[in-house]
Amino acid sequence: MSIKPYTNEPFTNFTIEANRKALETAIAKTKNKLGQVYPLHIGAELIFTKAQITSINPGNVDEIIGYVSKADTNLAEKAMSVALETFESWKKVPAAERAAYLLKAAALMRARKHEFSALMILESGKNYVEADVDTAEAIDFIEFYAREMIRLSEINETHPLVKIPGENNQISYIPLGVGVIIPPWNFPLAICVGMTVSAVVAGNTVLLKPASTTPVIAHKFVALMQEAGLPPGVINYIPGSGAEVGDYLTTHPKTRFISFTGSKEIGLRINKLAADPVPGQIWIKRVIAEMGGKDGIVVDETADLDAAAAAIVASAFGFQGQKCSAGSRAIVVETVYDELVKKVVALTEGLQVGLPELNYASGPVIDKASYEKVLAYIEIGKQEGTLLTGGGKAEGNGYYIQPTIFGDVPAGAQIMQEEIFGPVLAIAKASDWRKAIEIYNDTEFGLTGSYFSTDQARIAEALDSMHCGNLYINRKCTGALVGVHPFGGFNMSGTDSKAGGYDYLLLLTQAKLTSRKM
Ligand code: NAD
Ligand code: ALA
Repeated sequence: MSIKPYTNEPFTNFTIEANRKALETAIAKTKNKLGQVYPLHIGAELIFTKAQITSINPGNVDEIIGYVSKADTNLAEKAMSVALETFESWKKVPAAERAAYLLKAAALMRARKHEFSALMILESGKNYVEADVDTAEAIDFIEFYAREMIRLSEINETHPLVKIPGENNQISYIPLGVGVIIPPWNFPLAICVGMTVSAVVAGNTVLLKPASTTPVIAHKFVALMQEAGLPPGVINYIPGSGAEVGDYLTTHPKTRFISFTGSKEIGLRINKLAADPVPGQIWIKRVIAEMGGKDGIVVDETADLDAAAAAIVASAFGFQGQKCSAGSRAIVVETVYDELVKKVVALTEGLQVGLPELNYASGPVIDKASYEKVLAYIEIGKQEGTLLTGGGKAEGNGYYIQPTIFGDVPAGAQIMQEEIFGPVLAIAKASDWRKAIEIYNDTEFGLTGSYFSTDQARIAEALDSMHCGNLYINRKCTGALVGVHPFGGFNMSGTDSKAGGYDYLLLLTQAKLTSRKM
């Protein structure tokens, strides 16, 4: 089979009236179908449970997106046994055939792009661009990992092992077994899809436990994979309580790997629980844990301040700051501090807050717990720095918070150190550019960062000394593209993996060497 080379899915231009209308139509259609009940998918069986997760629109909390069946430990056990059984056949399906299911799914998703974006707008509170980018990234992950698996399966031809006389030596990347996939809600399609299809195309079977605030979009993806013809039991969809189902599967003896993306606290818990072997377990569980960030943008006095201000605002407030990559800190050299801060505040005050389906720049945060947490951090910020704009709740029948900026925040302040995951930016002043980098590095995280400068020697030093997985120069610190910017962080930001990169599938496979005497 010949497959065209990978390219990123283009983003939709919503300044074109027809594109805007197409998404608005998809939103209207989606709204007509809200409130359905969704089953678990365990093998070929669709199971409706009495216990349900109610998914609501965070921008209009009276609107119910859907009722999703909820697995308990018994159903998780049933899903595990189906996934174990399916693994025996799925692992034997040739890589190119597995990849073909993905390519079909990517084509189906591309054809219905706006449907997926519309549902995300309603379920997660993304505006048009944020939702469209999420859908495009999901398509990218499917296309990219399909090609990656084919590439790995051809490795003996493209990168043969060193030859010695009298032996035929081959390496093959075989699957691990049954994996538990635990995605977050903040890229409710892209990350859920990327984590799931990478595992599946590598020959594993999975138990997908979606985030409890965005289970309906995850269900739409699972239904799409079925439509693409993926055999039942390869992806088992089991929404449930993280504490109950998550802990049960993390400690299950037959779980071979856990692919998690979420907070530092839960990632560390999974890592710890998974490390302890239990009776009946014959392997060391592999844990891929992509966790939080306290990302930041450093600006020196040679920088283009308009470009830096625009990047700071986009990085801090895109999707209300609810990205692991969000630039929740800016560290600015003191000679340009006042001028830059003025620009950042002016741009931020231009962001209108309102309903995602009407495409306001700034929407709600995801749920009540997050709303209360972010507001509590804003109160802490009022003690730690100078409130420059925002500072509290915003109008609307949802979890709306004003885009908020604190200035003159000390490096060690809580709002400079802890992940807030909301529309809150802390700005610190540094005596010079080296001190600014030192402040940037002074966190336990290490996910994304940017350096704004026109001085090439400083840029070279910044490239070396800013310690993070994704470091950008003179651009925002969000918006990694699959295949272009493999994504993942250092330190407490995770297990140093790179989603959308050439080494990612190695995390979901094991290399088997076979040596045949000739
Ligand atoms: P979270 O940690 O609260 O939840 C993540 C997932 O873990 C959810 O599906 C949740 O139901 C599940 N979970 C909860 N308790 C569990 C348990 N005991 N065992 C197993 N699973 C359990 O995170 P969130 O609020 O969904 O997402 C936001 C976080 O994710 C932020 O910290 C953000 O930085 C991080 N994130 C990181 C990346 C990255 O690539 N590094 C990408 C996106 C989000
Ligand atoms: N991949 C996402 C970004 O870079 C998290 O913003």
